[in-house]
Amino acid sequence: AKLRFMEKAPRKISDLLLGVFFEDINYAADGGIYGELVQNRGFEYSSADRREWNNLTSWKASHDEVKLYIDSMRPLHQNNPHYAVVTNGLHGGIMNEGYGGIAVKKGEAYNFSIFARRASSRRQVLTISLLDKHGKKIASSTIKNITGDWAKHKVVLIASVSVPDAALIIEMSNNDRVDLDMVSLFPAKTFKGRENGMRSDLAEVIAAMKPKFVRFPGGCVAHGDGLDNMYHWKNTIGPLQARKPQRNLWGYQQSYGLGYLEYFQFCEDLDAEPVPVVAAGVPCQNSAHHHHALAGQQCGIPMEHMDDYVQDVLDLIEFANGDKSTKWGGKRAEYGHPEPFNLKYIGVGNEDLITEVFKERFKMIYEAVKAKYPEVKVIGTTGPHFEGTDYVEGWKFASQLDIPMVDEHYYVSPGWYINNQEFYDKYDREKPQVYLGEYAAHIPGGVSTVETALAEAMHLCNIERNADVVTMTSYAPLLAKKGFTQWNPDLIYFDNTSVSPTAGYEIQKLFGNNNGTEYIFTDVELSNRDVNVKQRVAHSVVRNEKTGEIIIKVVNMLPTDVNLNVDSASLLTTQAVLEIQSLSGKPDSKKLETSNPVFQGGYLKLAPYSFTVIKFRDNTLKK
Ligand code: AHR
Repeated sequence: AKLRFMEKAPRKISDLLLGVFFEDINYAADGGIYGELVQNRGFEYSSADRREWNNLTSWKASHDEVKLYIDSMRPLHQNNPHYAVVTNGLHGGIMNEGYGGIAVKKGEAYNFSIFARRASSRRQVLTISLLDKHGKKIASSTIKNITGDWAKHKVVLIASVSVPDAALIIEMSNNDRVDLDMVSLFPAKTFKGRENGMRSDLAEVIAAMKPKFVRFPGGCVAHGDGLDNMYHWKNTIGPLQARKPQRNLWGYQQSYGLGYLEYFQFCEDLDAEPVPVVAAGVPCQNSAHHHHALAGQQCGIPMEHMDDYVQDVLDLIEFANGDKSTKWGGKRAEYGHPEPFNLKYIGVGNEDLITEVFKERFKMIYEAVKAKYPEVKVIGTTGPHFEGTDYVEGWKFASQLDIPMVDEHYYVSPGWYINNQEFYDKYDREKPQVYLGEYAAHIPGGVSTVETALAEAMHLCNIERNADVVTMTSYAPLLAKKGFTQWNPDLIYFDNTSVSPTAGYEIQKLFGNNNGTEYIFTDVELSNRDVNVKQRVAHSVVRNEKTGEIIIKVVNMLPTDVNLNVDSASLLTTQAVLEIQSLSGKPDSKKLETSNPVFQGGYLKLAPYSFTVIKFRDNTLKK
């Protein structure tokens, strides 16, 4: 096979091509990347949300004599109305099991904090400890100055050994009543050292992909499964005890400790553009997940409340971009970030059925944002059913309104990617641009394999060629906690102590680290002219004007080697090769292995089922 450079002007590639979509699904936030180790820290879990829950979920008294119950008289904050009451505490304490255990590392510091008040005038000392599974204390510290009014107390615990499954215990020094709320334990080391920050091992794996943007907080989480389950950003900012926890439509609790300020900061720490998504004034339209297809037709924020909702969306932009003198920019400053976040994009809607109810509300939001913040690009939605009637309607509607960009989603088989390599070549360049906000190659069993990963690599090669139309992409979902997943496959699996990136992740990472600023048209001529063979080899050649590199990516989904002649005699020399990386594996294997790429005499040997990236210094390319 031969790779030939074509006489065709290069095409500009969007500088946001590869990003991530962070949805709070699969315990991605609470119990996941959000550093909090205590589950149900605010005692707000409710059986109304999930039958097996109550306000004491994840909590227990260490001994029968210790009385532990819930009260809501004179709460710490009206948004966090419940708190724990302990009496008879001298007999033991109260314990939290975390999210399937609290993992701690030897010698590392953990920041504990709690709101407490005592009911009697007797001095009350709280002893805060971590216990291993045999009940042995592996860290301990005391809080001595509990008063009759709610006050926040902090101590640092240092773990004497590493354990994956410690429990937290709070012990009392007398039997009198003590009230406790917002019990929190955080690793002192978080990603970029942020207080109330992210688990660093997980965040580092995301950062290694070099994502250029982060879409958040959903997905379905953004619109929720009913009017009362929508994600309202204003409930997620400010002091942690003032945030309004809520059930998540994926079946667990959102403390909102990871809220809008933290999301924006995370983007800043990743050097990625924030792409928040707000509901388009409609929830419950995604019939696939919650069978509300018909209800969805009628279901939307009542028109008399839409002005307030539109204002909420405008306020979000002010919270991100307004200076300190504005109402919401002032709150951002008060909460610790005086500098604006320079928000450039906002998603409105997620996979909504393109009904009249939707259209009416979307239009109100879109027009208000456009009028007040013309510099902020609104991203619309093409509905839940890829290539179905909503999709057609969604495109029609977006084109009519001249929305700058639409968010497309599809989860399809590897075969679809193989057979639709020209999908975006056919897109009308006059129509809205595409943000491919959610995609993955799916096979029965829901795993990421070498085959699915290579199909995704193929798709990304084809998208690089069409990056004038598809300006942003993000695989979905990003994170999944093992044993707590609602959706498979995901890009990165994890548990409390380890992170397991998938084959698909390796592909995303290679694309994120080998991006171009323009696409160079080349052609691969295979010796075997069989179209089925040709269809199983995809490639992309880009130039990066910032780094002065030319990068060739080739996917080989054939069961045999391919010997690719990179036309080196006239165009590139082997000396100019900066780096070659290659990954390959058996199609049904879960792991892409590093293989030894051979590039000799202008010939690049592509292993069966492989993805190869080869980087040249730009000045070797003769014009
Ligand atoms: O990525 C998982 C879910 O798939 C998203 O929440 C939703 O947008 C889509 O249906």
